[in-house]
Amino acid sequence: MASVDVGDLVLCGDKSPKHAQLFEAIRTKIVSGMWRNRAQLPSTRALAEEMDLSRNTVISAYEQLVAEGYVESRRGAGYYVAVTLPERFIDAKVAPKLLNRAVKTAPLNGAFSPGVPDLEQFPNAKWQRFITLHSSRSSLLGNQSRQGYLPLRETLSDYLSSSRSVRCDPRRIVITSGAQQALSIALLATLERQDKVLMEQPGYAQMTKVIEILGYQLEPVEVIAGQGFDIQRVFNSDAKALYITPSNQYPMGTTLNTEQRLELIEWAKQRGSWIIEDDYDSEFQFAHRPYTSLQGLAANIGLDERVIYVGSFSKTLFNGLRLGYMVVPESLIEPCLALKNILSGDSPTHTQAALSDFIVEGEFLRHVRKMRRLYKHKHQAMLAAIKHEFGDDIDVISQAAGLHITLKWQQGIDERTWVELAAKQNIVLRPLSYYESSLAPARDWHGVVLGFGNAALSQIEPLMAQLAKIFYQHRT
Ligand SMILES: Cc1ncc(COP(=O)(O)O)c(C=O)c1O
Repeated sequence: MASVDVGDLVLCGDKSPKHAQLFEAIRTKIVSGMWRNRAQLPSTRALAEEMDLSRNTVISAYEQLVAEGYVESRRGAGYYVAVTLPERFIDAKVAPKLLNRAVKTAPLNGAFSPGVPDLEQFPNAKWQRFITLHSSRSSLLGNQSRQGYLPLRETLSDYLSSSRSVRCDPRRIVITSGAQQALSIALLATLERQDKVLMEQPGYAQMTKVIEILGYQLEPVEVIAGQGFDIQRVFNSDAKALYITPSNQYPMGTTLNTEQRLELIEWAKQRGSWIIEDDYDSEFQFAHRPYTSLQGLAANIGLDERVIYVGSFSKTLFNGLRLGYMVVPESLIEPCLALKNILSGDSPTHTQAALSDFIVEGEFLRHVRKMRRLYKHKHQAMLAAIKHEFGDDIDVISQAAGLHITLKWQQGIDERTWVELAAKQNIVLRPLSYYESSLAPARDWHGVVLGFGNAALSQIEPLMAQLAKIFYQHRT
């Protein structure tokens, strides 16, 4: 851990002795989290010089910090922050910020954190080979195409057309920083402020945030547990865009059949509206062959001019890659590129070049196939463990696909209580309410989402047993 930078440390200048003022100033830095646990403090001599204090003043303040447990002194090595923010140190002014941070950084990728693939299984050595190969290419160091590395767009175009029947060519693909950036660009390129966007409820919370912050109006479309998207609601709407996850509705895990997809395409044509298709995890269908993408269907009848197709490598490879893509109609290429330029400029080129080779050399498909088999096993293990632990008390409402399972129950623990108590045991669950905007229809049942992607197969049953213990201890 690095040394702290004294930065703006100042004494309050009140009537108390200098060493007490220094103690308080350092204590505040520590409890507010600005000086991190295990970071090294400046030597007493250096701090005395920097703050124009006597060395004795600094020694005295440090000794007090040691005595009160904020700092530890290591013989011959100096002084180190020794506080991981126990609650009793949290000062009321900074508490909400710190607590938020604590919740978000808990076990971000642990079991059953939704949306995380099996990180242990990623073929790191092979990936490293491609990264190393490209990292010494000085031609990649300068500014690059904001649309994305051309060989990557070429290989991606082949993959999307062969595996998802997406109608595309490299000119129509824009490489983005995850699907997240593609979603913002899609809205900004097609809508005016205050325009209405239809969105599934419950739905992808990251999209709700984009709609709200960009000043569009969210028009909710209910997704009914086990049945699916209320398509009639769309026909009656004059919204300018529809955001949808047709192949594995997130998070309810339903799909739209071909007829429903065609009806949506027809609606978009008649109203002159846009469809933003988020095809985030179609590689992982366990029960049947995946449906053709909505964009591909639209192209077959010459109507893909109204569809923006969005995808991501977060599930197939790993989230930290931060690479996604959008396939846009001809008319949107230039507006999307202008927006990409404004939002981030080009995307990291070495990573794109490595990814392009990774796909061309067959490593991508090999990995996806292997992971499809593994996730299918994990999914089965989840179903078995849920049945074993909860019997008929809980229903699984999501289809056999993707990296998550959605649960529903009527009688029992409140969903938020379950989530909070599980978090204390380092198990991550998402309450269904997390995916609902304030406009979502009311619900008289509880739900949670469990991601099994990054949960070890052998851990699934014991973790479920832990969850069951909490569930039954807190039945209402
Ligand atoms: C519905 C949905 N869309 C897209 C993504 C991928 O987002 P990103 O590429 O920004 O990681 C996810 C990931 O969890 C998702 O759940």
